[in-house]
Parts: sequence; C-alpha cells; structure tokens
Amino acid sequence: MPSSLAFARRKNRSLPVLQRFGTVLISGVMKKRIGVLLSGRGSNFEALADSIDAGRLPNAEIAIVLSNREGAPGIEKARTRGLTTQVIPSKGLEREPYDRLVVAALREKKVELVCLAGYMRLLSPHFVAAFPQHILNIHPSLLPAFPGLESQRQAIEHGAKFAGCTVHFVDENLDAGPIVMQACVPIEDADTPEVLSERILRQEHRIYTEAVRIVLEGRYRMDGRRVLIQP
Ligand code: GRF
Repeated sequence: MPSSLAFARRKNRSLPVLQRFGTVLISGVMKKRIGVLLSGRGSNFEALADSIDAGRLPNAEIAIVLSNREGAPGIEKARTRGLTTQVIPSKGLEREPYDRLVVAALREKKVELVCLAGYMRLLSPHFVAAFPQHILNIHPSLLPAFPGLESQRQAIEHGAKFAGCTVHFVDENLDAGPIVMQACVPIEDADTPEVLSERILRQEHRIYTEAVRIVLEGRYRMDGRRVLIQP
C-alpha cells in the first residue's frame, strides 16, 4: 500500500480513501478531471472554475489549464487561482506534432474531458481520436450559422434577428461537431459587435457549465448527430 494511503487510513479510518488514475476518491465522490485549453482572455475558463468553486459542478476539478500562447491572460488568471498551468507554444510547429505534445500533457494530468475555451486552433485527427466524444467547445453563434472568427459581426452584418452561443462536441472540422446545448439572444438594431458579444458572453458562461455537467454525468445519448439530453 502506498505510504500516503496508509497514512490517510491511519489518520481517519472512517473515510474510505481510494486511489485511481492519480485522483483521490474521498467519501465515494470521484472527481472528473477537466483540461481547459485557451489562447486568450479566459472568461469561459473562469466561469467553469467559478462553477466548480460554487459547487455547480460537484464531480469536477480542473487538472490543467493549457495554452498555445505565452502571455495569454487566461493563463495568468489560472495561475492566480493556484491551478496547474502549462504553455506549449505552437509557433513553427505543424498541427499534428503540436497536438501530440498537447495530448501527452493532458494524458500526463489524467484529463478525462477537454474544454476548449477560446482556443484558437483546429484539432488534428490524432487529438480528436485521443478523447472520443470528450472534447467540448463553446462558440459565440447559433451553429451551424456563422462558424469561424467574428461570428457576432457576421450575424449583425447578415441581418440576423437572433444570435447566441453553442456548446458542441469537437471534431476535426471548424465549429462542426454535434451540438450539446445552445442559448439564444436577440439582436437589437443599435447593436455593435462588442455590445452583442457581451450579451452572448453572459449566456456562454451559463450554458458551458450546464453542458459540462451533462457530459460528465453521461446524461445524454447520441442519435446520429443529435445529442439527446436525458432529464
Ligand atoms: C468566446 O466568445 C468563445 O465563445 C469563443 O472565443 C471567445 C473566448 O472568450 N470560442 P474567453 O477567452 O473565454 O473570454
């Protein structure tokens, strides 16, 4: 028996303490380990971290916050919260060799669910295959409308009356995987991309937590591309 486990048992015999995948299981609650990938500001990462702190994701913990960009503000925010962070600069590397480094870093931390949160890279087939149906992304439009960059500006310029956000499973294609959850907001006549982005962002922070919870609980089933959420 590992000495730390023996110590824990001696210290409090009433607590069942088990070890698996490097996670400590206390009182029967196994925490699922999330890896957050970001390239920028990190407000969606913060929303997830806040939800964990507030008990809205009771079975989750953030195992690592990883960025392809040195100096990404989200990484600084994660450090301030005392979370494990890692920067793997992507500059100069081809997609797949880079993704192999990232997948290795996530595996090293025993990550079970990958949450992209403003991660500005397409994933290679190697990455997608490493976490089957366990990679989520949040996108600021009602997919499949307005994938890619500046979705809020695209929606306004197109003349759409509603915009929103989407949490979806990630595949190799841009903003294209099966949709887990969406939220809708109106587009007002006076909206600028910045004003609309703020309105959408409030919904992003709300639904990302909800979607992560459903996926971690396995409370859905697939019907082709459809993600059917169970009550
Ligand atoms: C969000 O709008 C998200 O939907 C998109 O990139 C933005 C990231 O913002 N994928 P933040 O870094 O989470 O604040």
